[in-house]
Amino acid sequence: MSGQSVLLSMRVNDAVVEVAVKPHHTLLDVLRDRLDLTGTKQGCDTGDCGVCTVQLDGEPVLSCLVLAIQAEGREVRTIEGIGGAEPHPVQDALDRHDAAQCGYCMPGIVLSAEHLLRTTGREVDREEVAQALAGNLCRCTGYVKILDAVVDASQITAKDTAKDSTPPGSGST
Ligand code: FES
Ligand code: FES
Repeated sequence: MSGQSVLLSMRVNDAVVEVAVKPHHTLLDVLRDRLDLTGTKQGCDTGDCGVCTVQLDGEPVLSCLVLAIQAEGREVRTIEGIGGAEPHPVQDALDRHDAAQCGYCMPGIVLSAEHLLRTTGREVDREEVAQALAGNLCRCTGYVKILDAVVDASQITAKDTAKDSTPPGSGST
């Protein structure tokens, strides 16, 4: 396909990135094929499977349905930008619960689950997790361990949130 290239500038995993893209390129195309961020997976390309989930300005989106040019000036987070020296609590819990089989769905699940825990800031139940992950299909696991893992992770992140919001000096006598 043709079309003039345009220079796209966005922040990806906290770094400014500039890349020439065609107007028809999806965000998924650019992340995987131009920026080599292949942790974001490609599946149906029609918005049905969720394996391409990334965060745009902190909200989960299906990157196969987002044109790259829509990310101009915005913040993109991919699985490569989750966690740091240590895995994120969601990643750690998925590992402890043995929740992955082939693993293809996992990057998208982590991005959706991280959003749920960050935006609620409290312990969540299995129903809330199931709702948040409704767009992330997993062909292998039956979801039970995934739901348990995210509930488990929420217990950890909720404690961290409570600690962070405790005013200095409270609790001391
Ligand atoms: S590849 Fe985007 S939803 Fe399936
Ligand atoms: S672990 Fe294989 S698709 Fe989810």
